[in-house]
Parts: sequence; C-alpha cells; structure tokens
Amino acid sequence: MRLTINSPFDAHLHLREGDMLKTTTRFATRMFAGAVVMPNLSKPIDTFEAMERYKAQIQELSRDFEPIVALFLNEKTEEEIKRHGDRAFTVKLYPRGVTTNSAGGAVSLDEYGALFGLMEERGDALLVHGETDGEVLLREGEFAPIYERLAKTYPKLKIVMEHISTEVLANLLDRHKNLYATITLHHLLFTLDDLLGGRLNPHLFCKPIVKTAADRAALRRLAFSAHEKTMFGSDSAPHYRGCKERAGAAAGVFSAPVLLPELTRLFMEHSSAGCLRRFVGQNAKRIYNLNLPHKTVTIEDAPQTVENECDGVVPMLFGKRLAYRVAAD
Ligand code: DOR
Ligand code: ZN
Repeated sequence: MRLTINSPFDAHLHLREGDMLKTTTRFATRMFAGAVVMPNLSKPIDTFEAMERYKAQIQELSRDFEPIVALFLNEKTEEEIKRHGDRAFTVKLYPRGVTTNSAGGAVSLDEYGALFGLMEERGDALLVHGETDGEVLLREGEFAPIYERLAKTYPKLKIVMEHISTEVLANLLDRHKNLYATITLHHLLFTLDDLLGGRLNPHLFCKPIVKTAADRAALRRLAFSAHEKTMFGSDSAPHYRGCKERAGAAAGVFSAPVLLPELTRLFMEHSSAGCLRRFVGQNAKRIYNLNLPHKTVTIEDAPQTVENECDGVVPMLFGKRLAYRVAAD
C-alpha cells in the first residue's frame, strides 16, 4: 500500500528556537509543505519584525515549506496589524498562564474588542487556546460559552478552536458558522487511561490534557469524516527529556517524527483513508486560503521503529514499531 498526499499541512506546530529549531524543522519539512507555527517562544513573537525574523530562520533550515508564523496576542497586536495593514495575520490568543510561555497572554478578552473588530473587517484569523483556569478536566468545556460569545459578537471573525479535546467543543462547530477547529494526533489516539491509568507516561502529558473515550470518539467522528471545518494540527510540542521526566513535568507531546505514518494507520484502520487528504491539508488550504509549495509525500506500509530519543527529545511512541513510514523520495 502506498498513499500519496499533495502538500500536507500542519495547522498547529511548535518549532521552538535555538538548537531545537533544527531538529523540529527537519521533521516538519520531511512531512509537510507548510504549517501554522506557534509564537510562544521564550520571548513571544509579538511584533511583525520578530515574525519575519523567525520565518526567515525557519526558511533557511527548510525546503519547499511555508511557515505561517502566528502573532502572539497582547497589547501590541492592534498597532502591529495597523502598521502592516496589507498582510494577512494569524493571531494566537493564550489566556495568561494556561500553558508554556503564556505569562504575557491575555487577561480579559474585553480589552480586545477593537482588535477583534479590526481583524473581523480584514479577514484575519484568531487562533485560540481555549482553556480556563478551572479544574483540569473541565477547563476546555468551561471555555465553550466564551467561544460562543466571541462567535456571536464577531460573526465574520474566523475563530479557530485549537487542539480541541472534548465532545463539548466538537459540538460547537455546527452551531456557529465562524468557528473552526484543529485536532491533534495524540487526542485522536489516547485517553486519560493511556496517560495515567497504568504507569504515568509524561510523554503524553499535554494541554489540553487527553480526556475520556467519549471525547475521543467525538473527535474521531470529525476527523474520520474530514469535517469541512476541521484541520489537522499536530501541536507537536517538544521539551528536552529532563524537562519531561521529572516532578513538575512540562506539558507537550513531541509527535513530529510519527505524524503521517500514524495518521495513515489510524485512518486505514477506521476505513477512512479517503478522508485523510482533506484532513491533513485540503481543508486548511480552503479555510486559510493558502498557496502552498508543491510537495508530494508518500506513505508506505513498511515497518519502522520509533527512535528512543531525537536530539535530546523523547518522541511520542518511542521504541514502538509502526506499520507505516514516509517513503524515500
Ligand atoms: O501541551 C502543550 N504544550 N500545550 C500547549 O498549549 C503548549 C505546548 C508547549 O508550547 O509546550
Ligand atoms: Zn500548541
């Protein structure tokens, strides 16, 4: 079996900085023609110049790869967009303190009414990490009314609910025209039982946390039908081994090395291979109006064993034998 995908796209990716950028970009460029790249670096990417610099750094390390760097939403954002009005922006909203490097995130959405109105007029996209600071299993569901209010107040604003992990948010997609969602591989594969039902696996610890089988089933229904308002977004988020295998483990799953082989297996096993191309690129191209470099990636049913460590980072499914792999060009 060989399955070829034209210009696959990852709609939510952490490429990081420093030495790690080389490793992450190598995996990304091997499997994808582009990605929405997250701005939560140690110093958040919150100006146009920082965005351009980061993009250039990524492009220097990649080939046939379009990085769409999101702008970190804060008090500077409105001015930045006005200063560079001719560009389309993707803006990432992190509620303050909810996850890695989000200390400079938004405290109250009420402060950003003018910005959202401006983005709505221009056709920019608002990408949202939708979690409150409530109880860990309820955080995402508690964000549902906030999404609904945003969607109603700015009916033309394109709002992307990032890495959805619950049935509650899955159900919002058909209720509001302007709500979209990204879905990760790890939320399609795992539940809380995989994370902590047996021995604790810190390499599956992420935010939002993986949830119940019913939640996973709701995400699978969307992905396996390539629901037109969903996009694959890996949220591959590496942290060095020492930051994961300790008390106070960092949140983030490094899934980049296994993404397309495992997505192919999962979709094949659920008789949904016909929907994979829409889920890993075509939907995003339509939703974001993308013009991606031409890149064909072929997945073949030849086994491979996942490395135990890639340049200091432990990948998801480390040491496991996978049924599929990316074919050499
Ligand atoms: O698990 C996560 N890791 N969730 C996020 O939202 C951020 C990410 C990271 O940057 O480490
Ligand atoms: Zn993320």
